[in-house]
Amino acid sequence: MQTILCMNAKGGCGKTTVATNLAAWYADEGHRTAILDFDPQRSSIDWLEAREGYEGVPLIEGVDAVAGDARAAYGTDIALLDAPAAVYGSEVTQLLRRADALLVPVLPSPIDMRAAARFIDGLLKSGRIARGQTRIALIANRVRETTRIYQALDDFLRRYDIPVLTHLRESQNYIRAAETGLGIFELAPSQVALDVVQWDPVIDWLGDA
Ligand SMILES: Nc1ncnc2c1ncn2[C@@H]1O[C@H](COP(=O)(O)OP(=O)(O)OP(=O)(O)O)[C@@H](O)[C@H]1O
Ligand SMILES: [Mg+2]
Repeated sequence: MQTILCMNAKGGCGKTTVATNLAAWYADEGHRTAILDFDPQRSSIDWLEAREGYEGVPLIEGVDAVAGDARAAYGTDIALLDAPAAVYGSEVTQLLRRADALLVPVLPSPIDMRAAARFIDGLLKSGRIARGQTRIALIANRVRETTRIYQALDDFLRRYDIPVLTHLRESQNYIRAAETGLGIFELAPSQVALDVVQWDPVIDWLGDA
């Protein structure tokens, strides 16, 4: 099983968006996929409940992981861990212990970048990351490419010796997918073509399940 953690202490940066869309992608590829939702807001579990309304979309197991030491079912190929906001200290360590890969979404805003700097500095001190047991990568999210703040985010993220895999553009398709329980890969192809290609480097970096 490959375990992929989506985490950043800052709220609203795209953890659930990354977790749910990757889950949909892996499930569509035929992998047995689960989301472990560690957030008391249960946004991923809500998304999975909305997904139940569709016939023909592949099943994704949902695990409410808030209460304790929850695990995906035996035989799961890919587990996405959706972390809550405001995680620090031992909670971060415990989540990292479970993860083969960590994706950190960051928004183009001064407040988000300052918060991300503190969070990433903390992560780089973690033994698991230093030893390469959990691979780490960054994702710029809700990007409008022509803006000055995007350039500032890009410069900021590239200061670290951590891969910046992609930028996901600001797109209503993510809002629609979040509402409906689908991944953007499952919306009409002509509508999501610009979004879908932005995930290629993420999927390449994660490698074969
Ligand atoms: N690239 C994007 N374009 C447009 N909307 C986006 C994008 N990424 C995320 N969103 C929207 O922004 C909001 C916050 O995203 P999301 O829920 O994924 O963040 P989060 O980090 O999981 O938040 P929380 O800390 O509350 O768990 C959601 O409404 C989501 O649909
Ligand atoms: Mg969330």
